Amino acid sequence: MDIETNRLVLRGWLDSDAKDLYRLAKDPRVGPIAGWPPHKSEEDSLNIIRTVLSKPYTFAVVLKEENKVVGSIGLMLQVDSNLDILEDEGEIGYWIGTPYWKKGLATEATKALIQFAFQTLKLNKLWCGYFDGNNKSKRVQEKCGFIYHHTNKDIHWKLLDEIRTEHITCLEKNNTFNLSRD
Ligand SMILES: CC(C)(COP(=O)(O)OP(=O)(O)OC[C@H]1O[C@@H](n2cnc3c(N)ncnc32)[C@H](O)[C@@H]1OP(=O)(O)O)[C@@H](O)C(=O)NCCC(=O)NCCS
Repeated sequence: MDIETNRLVLRGWLDSDAKDLYRLAKDPRVGPIAGWPPHKSEEDSLNIIRTVLSKPYTFAVVLKEENKVVGSIGLMLQVDSNLDILEDEGEIGYWIGTPYWKKGLATEATKALIQFAFQTLKLNKLWCGYFDGNNKSKRVQEKCGFIYHHTNKDIHWKLLDEIRTEHITCLEKNNTFNLSRD
């Protein structure tokens, strides 16, 4: 199922997105700060589309005006989440390619996924997080109504084999009054 906003369509990833994905995900300013290594080749990106981005509720973020993939956003339910969450909860993760930063696109996509999670999937609580120092992502979460919950200090982040400190935020279904506000 696709999700549409003013400027975006969130749709499932396709094998044919590999080229665009590689162009965006090879940039070292995108993956590492979100916890994954930069993509090494178009083939690497295709493999990631098939193994990681094919999970349920993982969407390519497409900018309608250019009909181009500009990022990714996903809702991870219990089994797929890195966090220890309950059955009626989900975790949101996202990234946007550098040419498209600071246009409000991550916020627009996240707000749409929040609505989908609460209204369509009937979840009751959403979690999100950002590594220490990722103030851009912190800001996206603030703008979407997420509230600071706790910090996981000095955890071993397997994908990068690094020690990281992660701040976790939370949004409850009955606290979404400010979703349409920017
Ligand atoms: C974080 C990220 C998704 C933001 O995408 P985006 O589409 O540019 O986000 P938005 O435009 O919706 O909002 C960004 C906000 O951060 C603010 N911001 C930008 N740079 C900032 C900085 N260095 N410090 C603090 N805030 C900053 C912007 O001003 C904006 O807030 P505002 O609307 O109040 O001005 C994007 O930078 C990205 O993909 N980064 C790499 C991967 C990543 O961090 N993913 C999230 C993992 S938790």
